[in-house]
Amino acid sequence: MLLNELAQISLFEKLDADELSGLSTIVRRRSFPADTVVFFEGDQSDSLYAIVTGATKVYTTEDDGSEKVLATVGPGEIFGEYSLIDGQPRSAAVATLEPTEVLCISHMDFRRFVTSAPEVLWKVLESLTARMRRQNNEITELSFRDVPYRLLRVLVRLTEKHGKSNPDGLVIALSLTPATLAGMVGSNVERVSRLMHRFQGDGLVRPLEGSRLLVPDFVALKRALEFETDWS
Ligand code: CMP
Repeated sequence: MLLNELAQISLFEKLDADELSGLSTIVRRRSFPADTVVFFEGDQSDSLYAIVTGATKVYTTEDDGSEKVLATVGPGEIFGEYSLIDGQPRSAAVATLEPTEVLCISHMDFRRFVTSAPEVLWKVLESLTARMRRQNNEITELSFRDVPYRLLRVLVRLTEKHGKSNPDGLVIALSLTPATLAGMVGSNVERVSRLMHRFQGDGLVRPLEGSRLLVPDFVALKRALEFETDWS
């Protein structure tokens, strides 16, 4: 069970069965209820977390007290890798968005383990670097796009990552206020509210209680993104 779960984590995708088995000896399993802080920005904790089920948000708190969501993290993905590697305080806070089960590995245990299995460190670094390249490409590409495109792109990504089927379409069961979405696309609340109203009028999204969203037709949402590409 644990080996299968570890094999699903993108950071460990290059490890062979023996390496995964070695890694499993330093992994701890933890469960968090929904809306629970895993750690705060500036905390001294240094474990890596890999999500088995559930979802979290990575966020910072601005001077005016508002929250800026940097990313959401879903099954197979990780967070907390910076402090795992360098032991520095947390660069951002992380909280669960739904009940979440994680596998965690502490800095000291990981260090000890890779000292005896250096090949694992290289494979993990390769996966981390591949992820960094993908993120850089995305940042570069998005920097040339306007706000409607960036917002549609965020909605497509959130649906892919967190969308759950129900009879009416795919529900993104996260609290997605205009302020949260504005933080994710790098725009202001007014602009994002106006655009969400437009997307709602176009039938691309439907608001549900608790600031959750329904995507009635995911194909139409992706098509809208392609259309936006032509005009941005
Ligand atoms: P760490 O600094 O240990 O704890 C906070 C985590 O949030 C960090 O590791 C990364 O895993 C994650 N993180 C920090 N900044 C970003 C960002 N801009 N986008 C996505 N994830 C981030």
